[in-house]
Amino acid sequence: MEYTTLGSTGMEVSKICLGCMSFGSGRDWMLDGEEARELVERAIDLGVNFFDTANVYSAGESEEILGDALADYDRDEFVVASKVRFPGADEHRNAERLSRKTIEQELEASLDRLGMDTLDLYQIHRWDYETPIETTLRALDDAVRRGRVRHLGASSMWARQFLEARRVSEREGLAPFETMQNLYHLAYREEEREMFPVCDAHDVATMPWSPLGAGYLARPHGEFRTTTRGDHEVENAGVPYHEFPASEEINGRVRELADEYGVAMAQIALAWQFQNDNVTAPIVGTSSVDHLEEAVEALELSLSASDVEYLEEPYEPVPVYGHE
Ligand SMILES: NC(=O)c1ccc[n+]([C@@H]2O[C@H](COP(=O)([O-])OP(=O)(O)OC[C@H]3O[C@@H](n4cnc5c(N)ncnc54)[C@H](OP(=O)(O)O)[C@@H]3O)[C@@H](O)[C@H]2O)c1
Repeated sequence: MEYTTLGSTGMEVSKICLGCMSFGSGRDWMLDGEEARELVERAIDLGVNFFDTANVYSAGESEEILGDALADYDRDEFVVASKVRFPGADEHRNAERLSRKTIEQELEASLDRLGMDTLDLYQIHRWDYETPIETTLRALDDAVRRGRVRHLGASSMWARQFLEARRVSEREGLAPFETMQNLYHLAYREEEREMFPVCDAHDVATMPWSPLGAGYLARPHGEFRTTTRGDHEVENAGVPYHEFPASEEINGRVRELADEYGVAMAQIALAWQFQNDNVTAPIVGTSSVDHLEEAVEALELSLSASDVEYLEEPYEPVPVYGHE
């Protein structure tokens, strides 16, 4: 495993963050407690110390499963991240968004499910257009001061919103967002335009979600729907990576290099993330021990500058996805 510093938090994290969105129930590609435990144990064997979940994943089941799986270990070894903004286990009208009431209630519920006293990283899952950002930041800052949260982060939003939040924190002396969890992979690179330069200027760590385009970059273009997860993405109006103008060409080039190096397509797509200066640690979302092992092996794969140029060259700008 390789480790890196999570921006200004100073925490040391594995270059692979294990995404836990697939822990829980409701879809047949999801892992129950026993299956998830096996994945988490193998991840820890391989040196992964960084885990990402959210109150909304399977209505809190993901947090519960992750907490159970980590309970046999020394909690201090791990950097655990969760999120708030969408409803968790409760569905009443104050179970979502970013009011002080929601944040305080949802944070306690997340900690309870995780079986932890403190979260290492608490992220707002999206911007809340109804609650002033100062209200949200004050509630989050209080959680930091109460020792319930160590660091704050944000996920997919406009760069101007992220900067506004950083400015309010600075002006009011509140804990700032120190990480950005955004959508980024070879077939979706819109974050290079504004968000990554902002993160770079402020020493904000980045943790791209869907680094394989929800599996699109892990298999040939025409086969996106051949897995239950891929089918789910297309049927449930996930981001239409397979329809972007340059995607087929990019996917073909990933496949070509995978053949040349004798590795899996997913390993080329991840190797591109690992060599990318924009990226601190991608959040890999596998439900398979074999695929997790492939992801870790990809750390050893070094792409040449001309490989990187070849993979990036066909990209064409597309509409912004992942936030509104
Ligand atoms: N902040 C947000 O709004 C947001 C949104 C979405 C996700 N996330 C976070 O990001 C994490 C990852 O998201 P994601 O699941 O969309 O990520 P992803 O890594 O882009 O895609 C995962 C998909 O790729 C497949 N895959 C992985 N490795 C493979 C391999 N070696 N060969 C073939 N297929 C492979 C997986 O199938 P297998 O399961 O069969 O391996 C799965 O279907 C989530 O768990 C969550 O923590 C955050």
